[in-house]
Amino acid sequence: MAIISSKKQPQEPNKEPKQRREVAKAPPKENLLQPEAAVDEGKQEESIRPQRFADYIGQKDLKDVLDIAIKAAKSRGEVLDHLLLYGPPGLGKTTMAMILASEMGVNCKITSAPALERPRDIVGLLVNLKPGDVLFIDEIHRLSRMSEEILYPAMEDYRLDITIGKGSSTKTRSLPLSKFTLVGATTRAGALSSPLRDRFGLIQKLRFYEVDELSKIVLRSAQLLQTNITEDGAAEVARRSRGTPRIANRLLKRVRDYAEVKSFKEVNEQVAAEALQLFQVDPCGLDWTDRRMLSVIIEQFNGGPVGLETIAAATGEDTQTIEEVYEPYLMQIGYLSRTTRGRVATPTAYKHLGFKPPNEQLSLLP
Ligand code: ADE
Repeated sequence: MAIISSKKQPQEPNKEPKQRREVAKAPPKENLLQPEAAVDEGKQEESIRPQRFADYIGQKDLKDVLDIAIKAAKSRGEVLDHLLLYGPPGLGKTTMAMILASEMGVNCKITSAPALERPRDIVGLLVNLKPGDVLFIDEIHRLSRMSEEILYPAMEDYRLDITIGKGSSTKTRSLPLSKFTLVGATTRAGALSSPLRDRFGLIQKLRFYEVDELSKIVLRSAQLLQTNITEDGAAEVARRSRGTPRIANRLLKRVRDYAEVKSFKEVNEQVAAEALQLFQVDPCGLDWTDRRMLSVIIEQFNGGPVGLETIAAATGEDTQTIEEVYEPYLMQIGYLSRTTRGRVATPTAYKHLGFKPPNEQLSLLP
């Protein structure tokens, strides 16, 4: 499934920061650290996607919950409860839905809310479901009101309510549907309407991956791609992957190209670091926009607090992308905190960008 990225190219703001420690290079044209799948990337992901729970690395809590749900549903001969998966992009929501279907021995139909604009789109999908099938709807918070209302009786009673005719001769017919499992995925659980959210029996969060989990993912993918990589090489890729398997696999492919072209027989830590430096991926996985966001907060606003809109204007990113893509990772690694008065850069962020943290500056005063 290819998701077309709506990301804008960052633009330089008019005003130059007063003091700049780090020369902000222009963002690379191909954004390797964008967690959304690039056009056509879906097909490439397919070849290395784990097919069973046994091959799926990380997300232990989620796997434990789903393992129980699957075993219980199977032993009762019932379909799995509807499941809402939420969390930042690229963490494996689609993969999880496909594994669920394969563990249950049923089909998985994959779509995304923007493709279900007209009621007939969702009706067409629902009537063709076979008993037990998994229907995966990505970006479910973007479902139109009409499609959402069609889903309510479908989720609750496996029933399709259709209205025939207009005005006083309007009739409502109910069509039975096969019992199915809806797996909804969203980066914004809070944007779902409560009637829709309440119809999911299971609501589960995917979290960023630890470096050791990502290293294992890189080693597994490298084996499937027949790439010779050392454990240190895999760890270097993992450290720069923003806790996100999709990014780790993308960086692995770039590192593989680099090693091949430069005739290195294996990807070790140094080869991985050289390759990723070439692609402007920094040792913590920060890209141009992350660094720009943090340096704007530090240089122009004394470290914050500063409002989201201001950061968006300074980086040329939209507020939604900043909130859903950039901030979660910066907060996860402790570089940014969100307060009621705005965003604040932490002392760790100061140090990473080569600035003195505020209290150290104070201690230098006479
Ligand atoms: N490839 C992408 N995500 C993965 C995961 N969680 N486990 C194994 N391989 C993966």
